Amino acid sequence: MTETLTIRRPDDWHLHLRDGAVLRAVLPETARHFARAIVMPNLVPPVVTGAEAAAYRDRILAALPTGMTFEPLMTLYLTEDTDPDDVAAAHASGLVTAVKLYPAGATTNSASGVRDFDKVRGVLDRMAEIGLPLCVHGEVTDPDIDIFDREAVFIDRVLDPVRRATPGLRVVMEHVTTREARDYVLAQDGGDLAATITVQHLMLDRNAMLVGGLRPHYYCLPILKRGTHRAALVEAAISGDPRFFLGTDSAPHPTRKKEAECCAAGCFTAPVALSCLAHVFEEAGALARLEAFTSLNGPAFYGLPANGDTITLTRGAAAAPLGQIETDAETGPITVFDPGIPLHWRVTP
Ligand code: NCD
Ligand code: ZN
Repeated sequence: MTETLTIRRPDDWHLHLRDGAVLRAVLPETARHFARAIVMPNLVPPVVTGAEAAAYRDRILAALPTGMTFEPLMTLYLTEDTDPDDVAAAHASGLVTAVKLYPAGATTNSASGVRDFDKVRGVLDRMAEIGLPLCVHGEVTDPDIDIFDREAVFIDRVLDPVRRATPGLRVVMEHVTTREARDYVLAQDGGDLAATITVQHLMLDRNAMLVGGLRPHYYCLPILKRGTHRAALVEAAISGDPRFFLGTDSAPHPTRKKEAECCAAGCFTAPVALSCLAHVFEEAGALARLEAFTSLNGPAFYGLPANGDTITLTRGAAAAPLGQIETDAETGPITVFDPGIPLHWRVTP
């Protein structure tokens, strides 16, 4: 049995770092293992302009503990008022790596998202022209559509029409959760479409969240689906296909907002992401392709070099769940994702 595994240092292509005390608490958890991350802009208020992204980037770098290195890859939150010139300037200066599309109301802090796609046509056309990728939260928000169907319906009603209307637009379908999303990616071959997959959607199905009691720490959006969908995602992740790569969607919320009558959506996976992924790939007999998923396919899609340094994972006795990390008194602790099975792999410090 393999006991150690050395891979290029991973990147996280979808991450929530938040701000203030939470940013200070969670940033080291990512920077310890990952070199770069696509940083989500869904703060309150959202990061909409280049100036706001520059200020957020400065706050992230100021929160980084001395001795750690980390490169935040900034994103702009697309609104119906977004100015194509501001987006193009933020891209040209190297500040911004992607633009994020939230359908209004789809998830945490998405109220300023897009309702009428005709209103963002100018921005999307400009992005196609300059090669700036669009990261998409792919769920419809129509109250008539069942929450378990929202991703599949989004592909037909929104994503495919938008892509046809904007030839050359590079798109990342983020945190895909269904066989339909996987198959849609596999059916395109122009190199313009890729998908990220989270840790929790590779490890858990909706039974884990709902059977034997409701598990708030497994509640995230898009919501966990049936086991057959999980199996399809695992196949995609372990395949080595360059169109699939890691976006943890690590989304910290204070424990008191998760263990609440109305639970916030998001799993805080960053501290255990690589331990979990090594488990998934080992179980599938695909440890040799872990590096493609965590460290090679993402940079290739974004046109960036893979990281030059490496990390080593070691197999050993099962580690105890990490429990919670502390923030400040006002926010309280944040519970770390626990997949509920023994994790034997850990990143060697
Ligand atoms: C994310 C968050 O908390 O910001 N929550 C989640 O369940 N994934 C938002 C998102 O990425 O949808
Ligand atoms: Zn997210």
